Amino acid sequence: MWSPWTVLVLVAASSFTPVHVLEFCPDNDCHGHDDTSPNAFKSRWNISVSNLMQDLGQFRVSCKKLLEAFPIDVVDGNFARPVKNCIFSKSSPTPLKGPLRLAAASKAVMEGILDVDVAVTQSDDFLHYASGGRLPAGSVPLAHRYGGHQFGYWAGQLGDGRAHSLGQYTNREGDVWELQLKGSGRTPYSRSGDGRAVIRSSVREFLCSEAMHSLGVPTSRAASLIVSDEPVTRDRFYNGNVKTERGAVVLRLAKSWFRIGSLEILSQSGEIDLLRKLLTFVIDEHFSSIDSDDPDKYLVFYSTVVNETAHLIAQWMSVGFAHGVCNTDNFSLLSITIDYGPFGFMEAYNPDFVPNTSDDEGRYGIGAQADVGRFNLEKLALALGPVLSQQQESEAKSILKGYADIYLKTINQLFRAKLGLLGEQEDDGYLVAFLLKMMEDTRSDFTMTFRQLSGVSARQLHNRDFTQLWALEDLSSHKLFSDWLSMYQLRLLRQHDSDVHRQQRMKNINPRYVLRNWMAESAISKAEKNDFSEVAMLHHILSFPFVTQETAEEAGYAARPPLWAKRLKVSCSS
Ligand SMILES: *[C@@H]1O[C@H](CO)[C@@H](O)[C@H](O)[C@H]1NC(C)=O
Ligand SMILES: *[C@@H]1O[C@H](CO)[C@@H](O)[C@H](O)[C@H]1NC(C)=O
Ligand SMILES: *[C@@H]1O[C@H](CO)[C@@H](O)[C@H](O)[C@H]1NC(C)=O
Ligand SMILES: *[C@@H]1O[C@H](CO)[C@@H](O)[C@H](O)[C@H]1NC(C)=O
Repeated sequence: MWSPWTVLVLVAASSFTPVHVLEFCPDNDCHGHDDTSPNAFKSRWNISVSNLMQDLGQFRVSCKKLLEAFPIDVVDGNFARPVKNCIFSKSSPTPLKGPLRLAAASKAVMEGILDVDVAVTQSDDFLHYASGGRLPAGSVPLAHRYGGHQFGYWAGQLGDGRAHSLGQYTNREGDVWELQLKGSGRTPYSRSGDGRAVIRSSVREFLCSEAMHSLGVPTSRAASLIVSDEPVTRDRFYNGNVKTERGAVVLRLAKSWFRIGSLEILSQSGEIDLLRKLLTFVIDEHFSSIDSDDPDKYLVFYSTVVNETAHLIAQWMSVGFAHGVCNTDNFSLLSITIDYGPFGFMEAYNPDFVPNTSDDEGRYGIGAQADVGRFNLEKLALALGPVLSQQQESEAKSILKGYADIYLKTINQLFRAKLGLLGEQEDDGYLVAFLLKMMEDTRSDFTMTFRQLSGVSARQLHNRDFTQLWALEDLSSHKLFSDWLSMYQLRLLRQHDSDVHRQQRMKNINPRYVLRNWMAESAISKAEKNDFSEVAMLHHILSFPFVTQETAEEAGYAARPPLWAKRLKVSCSS
């Protein structure tokens, strides 16, 4: 007999109250396609268009804080080398070879975060700024030195091998964002890499970071995607079959790009003063609730990261997201999703879903993420070791012991919400686990099963009327479906709630559209021919993942995946 709890642990869902969704759609008036019309946009972010920068010459970043806080690599030049006693190396981007084309831009990021009129992205100037050919005022481009545990083992020095931090931008809200180019050429940390990124992986990063944000999952953001004609050779499936592709650069943003590996390398190489410096910086800048005079501040920091990482992974699970490369160097200290590589959204429910087709052991399969999170947090505690007392080290261990509870509690809460349940009742965990087990047996689509359950009325449930609800048709073929359905109906009856409200709540957290690999793949193959229309369409649709949209329906994004999707193998080199 399967245990509901194991299934739940494997599956995990997410703890988010989709606050931004509610904000975005106050009166249910976000149905149309005109949500990004200037007026809707203005009211949503309360931005007066005339205040947006029209001229990139006005755009200024600052590197002062980072340069003043830390020593810089004493060696210059973009050649691979072991680097010591610093957090950053100065490193200039290598401009992409033209002709350059704008493949995508995010209006939400350009205007809502960077205060720049999105129309500016159409200029030649922008192409150069966003691909490493020209630097914004104030920029001293930096590559970050970090290390990490990859696939379970300490991998030594890694670092930004093809990303350049341009500096920090403080926007009109007073929020500070760190801008990075990815795919912008070699750095001292490139090892044997060429420092480039191809169109394929860049389209995926651009679309997915923006899509995750709209799903309410903490993530880095993407402002733009520039493609070039610069040839880049890649072994797409690591099978010796080398192909020439084209280089691309994503302009991406995060409040901070520091990772668990940022601390690990300092600890591993005995640079303890620097470790303390970096920790103090991260805490002062990003953990405002921690008192810098608190003798336990590193412990409080650790406990915050443990809590938020548990929440993040639970959120991934609740939307069926598998990151694919959960190494400690790809895990943010701010517990946001970073480094989009061979990620995937699970389609047919399967706790063993592995998005990286070369990850034969399934180390980073979807159901393994919660455990991998704990592994990474254990490495974080080790990295903190040199600045903790013995007493504190043992407290860190007990904090980590609490991780599983936080995760389970969050996942349960998220999945209860996905089913429209109010409050918490004794059998809720069983109800969820039972459903997931049936989904696994019938290979029901993860996203659409929950979405279609969100749209059926109590009467339809009663009559088992699932006409045209393909995911529910699959699910209802299970021999125990009637048993589960009776339980679910009873549970819904026991809560004082209107059927309409339940459906509304569920539709606000169960997305109708996620970035399925086949959707991305189709947009990529067009983008490789300089047709960016499908990238734009996906970007727009995935900005409103909870709202039924005509273009999306026509494109089949909520329909049964096409047959060719099943044979699709996502290439993982990037
Ligand atoms: C929008 O911003 C203006 C000026 O910054 C402010 O006066 C106004 O109250 C804001 N409106 C809303 C709805 O927040
Ligand atoms: C844990 O993290 C979540 C998500 O960020 C937050 O809502 C919650 O308040 C945190 N709990 C504690 C005890 O810090
Ligand atoms: C994860 O980090 C490693 C080390 O920097 C890097 O080689 C790899 O590309 C990263 N993964 C992704 C998806 O960016
Ligand atoms: C996919 O998994 C293989 C095997 O573990 C690994 O060598 C490769 O680096 C992974 N791909 C990415 C992009 O992380």
